[in-house]
Amino acid sequence: MTLIGVLGGSGTVGRVVVERLAGWGTGPLRIGGRDRDRAARACEAAPGVPAEPFRVDLDDAAALREFCAGCDVVVNCAGPSYRVLDRVARVALAGGAHYVDAAGDLVAIDALAGGGAAGLDHRAAVFSAGLMPGLSGLLPRLLAADGPLARLDVYVGGAAAIGPLSAVDALLTRGPRFGTALAAWRDGGIVPAALKPLRSVSLPGFRDRVHAWPFLSAEMSRLAAELGVAELRNYTVYVTEAIPEALARAWADDGAALDAHVPAVVAAAGADLAATGPYYAMLFQAVPRDPAPGRPRRLLLRTPDSYALSGVVAALTARELRAGTIPPGAHAASEVLSASRTLAALRDDPLVTGVELS
Ligand SMILES: NC(=O)c1ccc[n+]([C@@H]2O[C@H](COP(=O)([O-])OP(=O)(O)OC[C@H]3O[C@@H](n4cnc5c(N)ncnc54)[C@H](OP(=O)(O)O)[C@@H]3O)[C@@H](O)[C@H]2O)c1
Repeated sequence: MTLIGVLGGSGTVGRVVVERLAGWGTGPLRIGGRDRDRAARACEAAPGVPAEPFRVDLDDAAALREFCAGCDVVVNCAGPSYRVLDRVARVALAGGAHYVDAAGDLVAIDALAGGGAAGLDHRAAVFSAGLMPGLSGLLPRLLAADGPLARLDVYVGGAAAIGPLSAVDALLTRGPRFGTALAAWRDGGIVPAALKPLRSVSLPGFRDRVHAWPFLSAEMSRLAAELGVAELRNYTVYVTEAIPEALARAWADDGAALDAHVPAVVAAAGADLAATGPYYAMLFQAVPRDPAPGRPRRLLLRTPDSYALSGVVAALTARELRAGTIPPGAHAASEVLSASRTLAALRDDPLVTGVELS
């Protein structure tokens, strides 16, 4: 039987990883975190499979080695991801396990691959196995399956509670390695200051009027380059302007450490939730270069809980690793998962409340 370790399995994302893996009967689980009692409660949410709680702080190298020992796959849902980078991946690979990270980005992949990690020649490490990054870079591939796109517009967002740990990640998602605000992708390159925020607009799948902020993420630039999309516009969608305002205040404040702004980001997400209730939508709109009849032009996916859905994606990635469909090396999930198989699995998942491909 293969053992899967879920580090951070008692958290918002990690709990769903545990629930799905247990539900699919993938085998025994080891659930790690600093608080063993919390991990033990997460084990109770995994009926039908042996699940072992494990006290581990990822800052403690010896404890992390012990946690990873004997695992076939380690799924990391502990963060903040942009401070953890490749630390857990290195220990998992050195111990002989494959690795999945619900977050991480190009910076983490480069840190791992660039440093020549032991084990990468015969094991895989898959980062960005969540909703965004993750599904955001994977699902639009379905619209390009029958030929290249002249244009792709991406809108991802809604209202979700943000915990303090994820708020740190939101505050750290900044700088050219993560993406460029207000930029678009055009004819093979990044065009700075190409777009303006769309304030108070109606978008299919989103409730009432929303605010869409252009942010050309590293994931989207790679997608556009790989698929040869002539123009790509990527927007993060907010139900109020509270979160972009909280982030802008933090980034303008040179005097304080970013962590001082965590409560403001958490509160801003709370204000969004109060405004509309929890919901999230991913809308992809494509213009094919060759507009043959019958080609899909729009994909819309809805979920009440973006964090929980990230857990589903991380669990699906672990399942693919176990099935041997992902080659060795360091990857982004959107570049190694099958878009059609993932969408088929999501259609059956209770956390997906709607999929329209038309
Ligand atoms: N790609 C995406 O779309 C996406 C979406 C949502 C979240 N994420 C990412 O997923 C990660 C988890 O987010 P979350 O909201 O689930 O966080 P969370 O609810 O705070 O859960 C964090 C989990 O990690 C454990 N943990 C925290 N620090 C640890 C440490 N030093 N050593 C060991 N375990 C530790 C916590 O347990 P203890 O407190 O007991 O240690 C808990 O189980 C974040 O990095 C976030 O950015 C990605």
